[in-house]
Amino acid sequence: MQNKLDLLASKLEEAQLGGGQARIDAQHKKGKLTARERVHFLLDENSFEEIGALVVHRSSDFGLDKEKFLGDGVVTGYGTIDGRQVYVFAQDFTVFGGSLSETHAEKICKIMDLAMQNGCPVIGLNDSGGARIQEGVVSLAGYADIFYRNTLASGVIPQLSAIMGPCAGGAVYSPALTDFILMVEQQSYMFVTGPNVVKTVTHEEVSSEELGGASTHASKSGVTHFTAANEIECIQQIKKILSYIPLNCEEQPPFLAYENSGSETRAALNSIVPENPNQPYDMREVISNVVDNDSFFEVHKDFAENIVVGFARIAGRSIGVVANQPAFLAGVLDIKSSQKGARFVRFCDCFNIPLLVFEDVPGFLPGTDQEWNAIITNGAKLLYAFSEATVPRVTVITRKAYGGAYDVMNSKHIGADMNYAWPTAEIAVMGAKGAAEIIFRKEISEAKDSAAKLKEKELEYNELFANPYKAAERGFIDEVIRPEQTREKLIRAFRMLENKVVNMPRKKHGNIPL
Ligand code: HXC
Repeated sequence: MQNKLDLLASKLEEAQLGGGQARIDAQHKKGKLTARERVHFLLDENSFEEIGALVVHRSSDFGLDKEKFLGDGVVTGYGTIDGRQVYVFAQDFTVFGGSLSETHAEKICKIMDLAMQNGCPVIGLNDSGGARIQEGVVSLAGYADIFYRNTLASGVIPQLSAIMGPCAGGAVYSPALTDFILMVEQQSYMFVTGPNVVKTVTHEEVSSEELGGASTHASKSGVTHFTAANEIECIQQIKKILSYIPLNCEEQPPFLAYENSGSETRAALNSIVPENPNQPYDMREVISNVVDNDSFFEVHKDFAENIVVGFARIAGRSIGVVANQPAFLAGVLDIKSSQKGARFVRFCDCFNIPLLVFEDVPGFLPGTDQEWNAIITNGAKLLYAFSEATVPRVTVITRKAYGGAYDVMNSKHIGADMNYAWPTAEIAVMGAKGAAEIIFRKEISEAKDSAAKLKEKELEYNELFANPYKAAERGFIDEVIRPEQTREKLIRAFRMLENKVVNMPRKKHGNIPL
């Protein structure tokens, strides 16, 4: 018996070393953690149960039969984060550069299947040179097996992808199919084709970092939702995301015990919107004064900054916040902000997270760039996402709500449950100047002093429409509230809506304008 126990112990010891101590040292020298270290920092102490530590690849081409490493380049299993069960895979760069073989893929698929059957999130820690080149098509098949599962799991269990190193070629599509991507600055990169191919095909000279590094994907492409200065910060972000969301689509998000420590009135809200309606202000100030202290966790922070989205809590309840940002491009809706908003709304709706919308939007961004790149189709994404969301939905109009953007930003007409407006709200088809120029064109052009006439008509239009009362008369706004009351009103509204049930028309699935 002792021999057998010794054999087991030596195999498990060997598996711990992945591609061997020299490659572990090389990984550390690059400033990177190993797959096992990442899993250790991610999961609660002693909670990790490994699955498939002794798996090896089945290839013999190119002498691979002489190079076998226990675990075959990916550490898989389950454990807990803050006591809640999750499934994890961590690619091990010390084994064939973390490249994906047939068996490596099978290990990932196994934990994805378990995660689906048991209703728990999957967290992927990616660090890989892509397809195991020596294996050819079986590696491609392995990728597709994962993509298929990513798609089936979408909307059923949360899927998070942290990119800790390279992620190139078709390998990028598994993270892209998951709910959130996190990248580490100066360490991870993602691209479909690398700098060499780019140079050959388009003659552009670009570094890996510039082409597909964390800051590129955070600000230019929006591929990544979070960036971290280092791996530990990235792992902390994963844990933080999980703290706001349920384990699966049948569960409610975690509720933090909340003790009312006094008045919910927030006087600071009364002085955030400037007197001058064209002066910007930071909508984050509104958000942070309304939600529980320090609970706002921004998603997609550096992408399409004219809309702000993120998780927060209000009286302990998880919510998703979507807010126009007047401090950036006046909060206008454009292609990227519509995509960003729509994606976040859909995530929240998948996982029963109520939506809170703050609105100050002058309209959609005009111009050939926007039109030729399909602001019509892209703006429709946000409209569609709100319209089909069945979670509790509350809107607060702080200032401008103009044109189609009024309809899109979670208006009553597309299914919002409660619509509040501050007295500073301006709800109209368009801004007063533009409106006056159109409807009083003749009168203005025939006037002795056209400029004065325009001003007069502008004021007239403003007086009539640049307020929340026309909409309130119609019931499109449920209540006009003092800004300081906002937090209290929202606490009550979300409590009132907590058992909301909406039955949507029966269908296979909708056809969101992609
Ligand atoms: C097999 C690989 C590998 C791969 C790296 N290795 N990538 N082995 N298949 N795809 C091995 C190396 O041979 C090396 O082995 C070890 O991993 C570490 O690699 P290094 O090159 O020494 O590391 P580094 O300098 O950090 O460079 C990392 C890298 C580079 C940038 C990822 O290795 C690289 O360019 N790899 C090839 C990337 C690639 O073209 N992949 C295929 C993409 S196509 P030793 O024994 O020396 O330690 C694809 C299609 C997917 O993925 C389609 C899905 C639909």
